[in-house]
Amino acid sequence: MQKIEPKVTQMDIVCAEIPASPVALVVFGASGDLTKRKLIPALFELYQRELLSENFYVIGCGRRQLSDKQFRKVVTEAIGTEADEFSKKFHFETGGYDEPDFYKRLTNRLEQLNKQYSIDNNVIFYLSVPPALYPVIAEQLGSAGLTCPKDNTQKENVRLIIEKPFGRDLQSAAELNSIITKCFDESQIYRIDHYLGKETVQNIMILRFANAIYEPIWNRDYIDHVQITIAESVGIEHRGGYYDKSGALRDMFQNHMLQMLALVAMEPPSSFEANCIRDEKVKLLKSLRPFEPSDFIRAQYTNGVIDGENVSSYLEEEGVAPDSQTETYIATKILVDNWRWQDVPFYVRTGKRLGAKNTNIAITFKKVPHSMFASFGLDELPSNILVLQIQPQEGISFQFQAKRPGSKMCMGTLDMHFHYSELFDVKMPEAYSRLLLDAMTGDQTLFNRYDSLETAWKLLDPVLADWQNNNSTLYKYPAGAESFAEADKLIESDGRNWRAIANH
Ligand code: BG6
Repeated sequence: MQKIEPKVTQMDIVCAEIPASPVALVVFGASGDLTKRKLIPALFELYQRELLSENFYVIGCGRRQLSDKQFRKVVTEAIGTEADEFSKKFHFETGGYDEPDFYKRLTNRLEQLNKQYSIDNNVIFYLSVPPALYPVIAEQLGSAGLTCPKDNTQKENVRLIIEKPFGRDLQSAAELNSIITKCFDESQIYRIDHYLGKETVQNIMILRFANAIYEPIWNRDYIDHVQITIAESVGIEHRGGYYDKSGALRDMFQNHMLQMLALVAMEPPSSFEANCIRDEKVKLLKSLRPFEPSDFIRAQYTNGVIDGENVSSYLEEEGVAPDSQTETYIATKILVDNWRWQDVPFYVRTGKRLGAKNTNIAITFKKVPHSMFASFGLDELPSNILVLQIQPQEGISFQFQAKRPGSKMCMGTLDMHFHYSELFDVKMPEAYSRLLLDAMTGDQTLFNRYDSLETAWKLLDPVLADWQNNNSTLYKYPAGAESFAEADKLIESDGRNWRAIANH
C-alpha cells in the first residue's frame, strides 16, 4: 500500500485553554510509583506551560517519614532536572490513612499553607493509593470536616480524584460509591480513566463532531464493522500482585475499551459540556447487547520472544499464582442495539506481551455495491478504512482506491495519513496533565460519572461470574504473538479478519 504524505498549508487553530485556579493538591500515596512516574511530571508540564496558578502547592501524604526537603528531592528526580521554584511548592505530611490524628495534622497544615499561598478553600484530594484505601480515606476526610469548604461556599471547590479500578464488580463498585457519596457529592468526584486524557482519544470527538462529512456515513448503512485494539508488548511490569486479581477484562476492557467504544458510537451531544457528553456515553453503553460469557475469548501468555528477547510466561511473573487462571488477553464481538448500529459488529481485543504496541480504532466501510471493473479481474474492491491511531505514532489514516499512473487500468490502495508528530511541532501532552488541569478548572468531561461505570460493571458481571467458576476455557498464546487461532476464529467466522498489529 502506498502512503500519501499530508501537507497542511493553512490551518485555523482555535486553542482554548483555561489556566488552573489557585488550588491546594493533596496527594495520598505521594511516595508511590504513580506519583513519581506520572503526577509530578504532569504537574511540571503544566508549570512549564504556565498553566498552574502561582498560588498552587502540593501536600504529599504517605506512611514514609519524609521531610519537605526529602520529598522535594523525589520531585527533582521525577522531573529529571533542578527546578527550585517548582519543587519548593511541594510539602510532605507523614501519617497512617486510618488515623484521625493524621487528618487533624493535615487540617492544620492546609490552614497554614492556604494562608501562605493565599488560597481560599480550593483543594483537591488525589487518591493514588491501593483501592482498599479509597473508602478509608474518603470517610476520614468526611469525619475531619474536610470534604466541604470551611466557609460553606460552593462545595465543588473541594474535589476528589480517584484512580481506577473503581470496584472489581458491580457490587463492590456500588459499595464503594455509596461510601464515597456519603462524604462527597457526584459534582465533586473525578474518577480517572487516563485513556480519556489522551490527545488522540479526545480527537475522536473533534473528528466526529467538528466535521460535517462523517455524520451522514457514521452508521449501519455505510459502516461494515469496527475494530478496537489495545495491543501491548509490555507484560505486567512488577504489578503481579494487583494484576493477578484483576486480569485484562477488569484492567483494560471495563474502562479504557468501553470508554473508547462509547466515544466512537455515541450520538452527537448537543454541547461540549461534561454532563451532555457523559449522558450520551451512558446511553450508548446501555444499548449494548448484554454480554454472554461465550462471546469472549480469554487467554494467557506463555514464554516467547519480543524484539529478539526471550520473555518468560505469565505464570513465572513475580506475584502471580503458579496455577493462575487470570487472563492477559481478551477478544470479543459487541453489538449495539439501536437504530444507528444494528448488526454492525464492534470487534474488541486487548492483550499484554503481544508482538507490538499498537492502540487503534479502525472503521471499515462497506464495499462498493457493484464493481464496474470486473472485466479486469476486480470483482471485489477493498473497503475504505479510517484508522484512528491512538498510540504510538498518533494520527489518522484513510485507505482508499486510486488509479496508478501508467497503464489504462491500474488500481491500488492508497493510505492518506497524518501523524501528529509530523504536523505539529509539539511534544504530545501527557494524559495526566490534561486530567489534572481539568480537575483544577472543575471540568468533569473527561472523568467517569458513576452511572457509566455501573453500566459497564452490569454488563460484565455475568462474564466475571462465569470465569470465577472456571467455566470458560483459558487459551494460551506465546509472548510476542500477533494473534492465535481461537481469537482469529472469533472474527473469521464472520468472514472478516483482524488487522495486523505490527507494521501499521
Ligand atoms: C492501565 C493498566 O490502566 O493502562 C495497565 O492498568 C496498562 O495494565 C496501561 O498497561 C496502558 O496504558 P497506556 O497509556 O500505556 O496505553
